[in-house]
Amino acid sequence: GSISLEPNRRKEISDLLVGVFFEDINYAADGGLYAELIQNRDFEYSLSDREGRDKSWNAMHSWSSTGGVNVIIDTTHYIHINNKHHALVNVGSAGALRNTGFDGIVLRKGQTYEFSCFSKLMNGKVVQANVKLVRPNGEVLATQKLSVSTVKWKQQSLVLKATADEDKASFEIEFTTPGVVALDMISVFPQNTFKGRKNGLRADLANVIADLHPRFIRFPGGCVAHGDGVHNIYHWKNTIGPLEARKPQRNLWGYHQTAGLGYLEYFQFCEDVGAEPVPVVAAGVPCQNSVGGQQGGIPESEMDSYVQDILDLIEFANGDGKTTWGKKRIALGHPKPFNLKYIGIGNEDLITDVFEARFVKIHEAVKRKYPDITVIGTVGPFYQGTDYVEGWKLADQLRLEMVDEHYYESPGWFIYNQDFYDRYDRSKSKVYLGEYASHLPGRPNNLETALSEAIYLTALERNGDVVTMASYAPLLAKEGHTQWNPDMIYFNNQSVTTTPGYEVQRMFSVHGGNEYISSNTVIDHRDNAVMKRIGTSVVYDRKTGDVIIKVVNLLPVQCDLKINLNELLMGEVPAKLITLTGEPGEKNLRPQEKDIRLSRDRVYAFPPYSLSVIRYRTS
Ligand code: AHR
Repeated sequence: GSISLEPNRRKEISDLLVGVFFEDINYAADGGLYAELIQNRDFEYSLSDREGRDKSWNAMHSWSSTGGVNVIIDTTHYIHINNKHHALVNVGSAGALRNTGFDGIVLRKGQTYEFSCFSKLMNGKVVQANVKLVRPNGEVLATQKLSVSTVKWKQQSLVLKATADEDKASFEIEFTTPGVVALDMISVFPQNTFKGRKNGLRADLANVIADLHPRFIRFPGGCVAHGDGVHNIYHWKNTIGPLEARKPQRNLWGYHQTAGLGYLEYFQFCEDVGAEPVPVVAAGVPCQNSVGGQQGGIPESEMDSYVQDILDLIEFANGDGKTTWGKKRIALGHPKPFNLKYIGIGNEDLITDVFEARFVKIHEAVKRKYPDITVIGTVGPFYQGTDYVEGWKLADQLRLEMVDEHYYESPGWFIYNQDFYDRYDRSKSKVYLGEYASHLPGRPNNLETALSEAIYLTALERNGDVVTMASYAPLLAKEGHTQWNPDMIYFNNQSVTTTPGYEVQRMFSVHGGNEYISSNTVIDHRDNAVMKRIGTSVVYDRKTGDVIIKVVNLLPVQCDLKINLNELLMGEVPAKLITLTGEPGEKNLRPQEKDIRLSRDRVYAFPPYSLSVIRYRTS
């Protein structure tokens, strides 16, 4: 067979094609990317987070007391109305308040950890304590003295340095004198967060995401963005400012969101990895417009204020010091605007009258005030392709600039629908493929699923004039705490495991381009089923002057292809060949990179079950 490049048939394609979708699902945020080590630091866990299924899920979750220490949860003396629960600790005789973290606390020898908490005396007697990080056998690995001496809430912080490695440490406040104290926002944060940011991200996880070189980051969901009821909608204003004043809430995936990883941290992360921020806000309706099974949305009478919140978000991101929300961002320590260009309104919502009325209102208001911001609408859920009809009707009517499509399908679907976007009308809205992944029974992320995504990505590159962005979903999953599989990156407290799907995303992201060069692929075996299992695409990256050829071989046999570079290569040049290959069921694979010589019309062997990238410089 052969691939013949047609250098005169080129088109401009999106240079934002591959990005990431971040949602707090599978413990992606608290207990995951957000580096806080204390679980339930705010004592705000509540039975309702898990719909009453787990009786231990209450304000004392992860906490216990020992010896003469008695703890009750109180809501009367709160630091902030958004965070009412706090611990009232009655110290009769020596004892401790203990937290076991998220499945234990990982300590590394020589690393420093910042402890902080709010405390106040309840009966006027100064209380002395030691804060400690301890092994399961009680051995102390770090300790500092703490004195509670004020009758008003006071925040204190101390640095703890671990003297040894431990994967299952716990945190203790050991009380050495009697008295009664109130405690809240008890936090232990590693100081080696990603880029050293305060209230920052777990460095190893953030680095693996950064290594994807995502062109954009979508946040905070997914379903988390619109919640599963009007009262569960994610409101960005509740997630900025002092941690004790942020508004924690139930995560619809069955746990708790502290909002410690909030809008400022999301924007900061985008900036730190060089990705365009793509916040997605609810279109005034919750998941599938549901409120206890009924259709519903934010009441009409509250919509003006909700629309204002969305306008304020744009001002928060982009406004200068003369604007109310720009001033707030500056006060929070970020003088430079975040240069927000995109905003998603709605997530996979049913296109009902309730949705439509609210969406139209938000869209109009955003475009009126910020004509340069691209509004990304939603075309609803995808069931055998039929349900986009209403969504696209609305998109056409409103002449939306971009719509968000989602689908989770089998490898066969991705292989047989490579022409999905070939058929799209170029005069209509652009597409953000906001969620997609290839699903097999048992939901693995293996080479088979990854290569079916890779073959689809060659089609997305070919359609990069209509598909502006695409993000695999979901991004993160904590082992033992998944509500959804497959995911792109798995992790536990100690380590991070990438998947074949991750490697595919990375190969397409790192080796993306901004011009698509047409090519003609001819396979010797002219059987449709065989041809569908070979995917090719060629892009040109103007920044580097590189031509990048991608070949996906989903056949169980090697595929020999002559690459006719035509006028794109005169003689012979050095090139890089990066190959991801293995058995279809394999889950632990890395691409291999080698230097090759590339010349016109040479035959290259593409191994069975592989994605290959050939990259060379033209000038
Ligand atoms: O990615 C997981 C979920 O799938 C998202 O929260 C939702 O948008 C979709 O249904």
